[in-house]
Amino acid sequence: MDFSKYREDFPILKRKISGNDLIFFDNGATTQKPNQVIDAITDYYKNYNSNIHRSVYTLGNESEKIYEESKQLVKEFIKASSYEEIIYTSGTTESLNFIARILEQDVSEGDEIILTYMEHHANIIPWQQLAKRKNLVLKYLELDEEGRISIKQLEEFITDKTKIVSMCHASNVLGNINPVYKIGELLKDKDVYFVVDAAQSVPHLKIDVQKMNCDFLAFSAHKMCGPTGIGVLYGKKHLLEKFDPVEFGGGMIGIVEETLATWAILPDKFEAGTPLLAQAAGLGAAIKYLDSIGLENIEKYTKELTEYMYSELSKIDNIEIYGTKNIEDRVSLITFNLVGVHPHDLTSFLDAKGICIRAGHQCTQPLLGKLGTYSVARASLYLYNTKEEIDFFIQTLKETKEFFDNEF
Ligand SMILES: Cc1ncc(COP(=O)(O)O)c(C=O)c1O
Repeated sequence: MDFSKYREDFPILKRKISGNDLIFFDNGATTQKPNQVIDAITDYYKNYNSNIHRSVYTLGNESEKIYEESKQLVKEFIKASSYEEIIYTSGTTESLNFIARILEQDVSEGDEIILTYMEHHANIIPWQQLAKRKNLVLKYLELDEEGRISIKQLEEFITDKTKIVSMCHASNVLGNINPVYKIGELLKDKDVYFVVDAAQSVPHLKIDVQKMNCDFLAFSAHKMCGPTGIGVLYGKKHLLEKFDPVEFGGGMIGIVEETLATWAILPDKFEAGTPLLAQAAGLGAAIKYLDSIGLENIEKYTKELTEYMYSELSKIDNIEIYGTKNIEDRVSLITFNLVGVHPHDLTSFLDAKGICIRAGHQCTQPLLGKLGTYSVARASLYLYNTKEEIDFFIQTLKETKEFFDNEF
């Protein structure tokens, strides 16, 4: 399948940086936006802008239709069983914070939360804070030399105090894909909430929340060609029905009296205030765009690129590459360190050639502690990247390394 044609859809790829073509290898942080998404947002503001729920007029009804269509698309994209299970938030971070506050209603002192050592800070700190408020215990699953968790250890960790298991589907540093479908199966008959941070997997892998048997799942639109400012909180309907909302205001109520209020039905119950309207139009357009290419085609193409980049990086002397060596068990990102070159220096050298990668702790300080470092470089790929870009990136890496080898 020829992916080069899709580059035309991304206007930013025409940009020059320091006289060079832009090579965007920071897709794990955020992806670029195709015209289809940019146009959907502009079209929304130009032709439909109006608030929903309370507008009994044509424009408001049209706006509401766009919002609901976007949610239907999300529902189908992750195979949720109902539209009511899809809550819009500002992104993965807010979704995970929400989930922690929702589950606060069903934990008590001494209960245990199981995380892994590869979590993004967004899937650590909300649980730490919950643990502080309610005197809970946090347990971290260890990683092997290729950064893999063990289901056996998870089984050993689970006690009758275990209340929550929360983990990423794919690590933003190691690239490793966790066996969340198997874990969902394992937790099926246990009285444990299973939470999945799917920020790095939803852009690459077909998700089926019902097969995964997760209770909650979180992801961000901006990592899958959608706009910033909107993300998804998926929750099983019976749980969203059971728990009280955690934010309050307009749009989420049934009846309000001086001293009490009742809640709207799902999904409005968890969406206080004016919904993310233009963002929802953009997210809907992003899903349509990815569907038009086919997520399985995107996965196949970006895996090929990742395999090529991995093999080219492996040929460089004194390079440390993190995560599993099995490309099949990875999403399309590779984190590494060139011995003797600080990741920030490397990033600056690459930037001078128009190449964007990420350097630093990647919001995973506990993981970096385990890896014995405090800073790493990460190159992450998406559907508009090419083999030629990888060649130029590798050549620039080698030149940078040579410069530092000769300098020091
Ligand atoms: C695994 C993972 N979880 C959570 C997040 C947070 O996403 P956001 O900043 O969109 O809320 C990220 C962002 O990089 C991530 O990679």
